[in-house]
Amino acid sequence: MKILIINGPNLNLLGKREPEIYGQETLTDLESWLAATSEASSHDIEWFQSNHEGKIIDRIHEAMENADGIIINPGAFTHYSYAIRDAIASVNIPTVEVHLSDIENREAFRKVSVIKDVCIDQIKGLGKIGYLEGLKTLINQE
Ligand code: DQA
Repeated sequence: MKILIINGPNLNLLGKREPEIYGQETLTDLESWLAATSEASSHDIEWFQSNHEGKIIDRIHEAMENADGIIINPGAFTHYSYAIRDAIASVNIPTVEVHLSDIENREAFRKVSVIKDVCIDQIKGLGKIGYLEGLKTLINQE
């Protein structure tokens, strides 16, 4: 399968950004870690990060041509970007929403995901393992 992993705003700062919440590892560390798993070895995985809503939407549209599944951590866009939600709904590619932290058990505004309903699953609070679980979900879906 060809899988696109999208990370949204501020996730380029992983490792430096609030490490007590998001951990010590960088986004590159996460990429290397996932690539070394047996699940990833038989699939073609591409990572994309942007701090810009429109760039994320453009990348989701491009995925129509070449992705079988999307894993997305939309960062704070999770909580209010109807545009990213509509983009996911438009391309009709199975998509899993992933969060490093447990958004249910933080500030009230983080409990709301406007993305969740257009995704096949939402995984939260597992740190980097969430990306692996997202990959497994995409691999195992009908
Ligand atoms: C996050 C949770 C969001 O609320 C936050 O804005 C992020 C990261 C997570 O991975 O836990 O940027 O998506």
